[in-house]
Amino acid sequence: MSQDNATIFPPFKDEGEKPLSEVQEEILRLKKQKRAVILAHNYVSEDIQRVADFAGDSLALARKAKEADADVIVFCGVHFMAETAKILNPSKAVVLPDISAGCSLADSCPPDELAKLKAAHPGAIVISYINCSAAVKTLSDIICTSGNALELVRKIPPEQEIIFCPDRNLGSWINEKLGRNMILWDGSCYAHEEYDAADIIKMKEFFRAPAVCHPECPKAVRDACDEVCSTEKMISWSKACKSDKIIVATVVEMLHRLRREVPEKTFIAARLPGKSCQQCKFMRLNSAEKLLECLKTLKPEIILDERTIELAAKPIEKMLKLS
Ligand code: 13P
Ligand code: SF4
Repeated sequence: MSQDNATIFPPFKDEGEKPLSEVQEEILRLKKQKRAVILAHNYVSEDIQRVADFAGDSLALARKAKEADADVIVFCGVHFMAETAKILNPSKAVVLPDISAGCSLADSCPPDELAKLKAAHPGAIVISYINCSAAVKTLSDIICTSGNALELVRKIPPEQEIIFCPDRNLGSWINEKLGRNMILWDGSCYAHEEYDAADIIKMKEFFRAPAVCHPECPKAVRDACDEVCSTEKMISWSKACKSDKIIVATVVEMLHRLRREVPEKTFIAARLPGKSCQQCKFMRLNSAEKLLECLKTLKPEIILDERTIELAAKPIEKMLKLS
């Protein structure tokens, strides 16, 4: 091991479980008082994951939101995820700690542009990754997540033309795996685009460990990895993996879940060239302080009109039924 490599790839430090802070204790107290359920995506910070009722990937969170019988759903994630919760359980108040927590992928697909593409391909069905706005969902036939995309597309007859939006990386991965030729929307996740295949290969050699990445990564990065899967599947894959060290190329907060669920293995966050590990700047807008404020005021709330909820629910329900 050269000193240079050790500097480029310092081991990810696990700070261990600290006692709950006053803010976290107050969150737990208010959550009970307001009959709220806190749902957290795998990419939010550890202090939020620790007070959440459930932490998971987009698919698991959609299911939890649909079955929630609390008065309020506090969604710690990004805007399209909170919208999905509202669409699936419209009688509940859905609040998001920071209403400006968007997503570069969802923003890359304006609904009027998608409508134009649909008009140019009248025979095509639209399969949209859940990382899209409610308006895009109303124009879609089926929604998928990274956890069920392969399973759902496999069910569509090969001769059926498909427009896949908005992630060109997830779409090209599905095309490769299933030998399809879906028309791909040209959107991407800024955070997963920044990984570099050559660096992942160097890390694999340095640590003598396999690597897993999210399908939102570009093809060269996916090809450099040993497994490509959703954040939730990273847990089962890691459990089954023969190696006791695993390199993870996705938002670093995912390592909290992996460490909790697979404590016997060492997880190493893939680095970015010249930087430390990757975070999602939108997910990071969630903080324990904002979560507490949100529980106090029950704001900011997700508001959608009835027609949008009705139309957007159809392709999401279809996904839940088919997967
Ligand atoms: P999951 O589908 O694994 O929840 O990931 C969502 C996401 O936003 C990845 O960037
Ligand atoms: Fe969106 Fe990427 Fe952040 Fe996921 S990691 S929420 S796709 S910007």
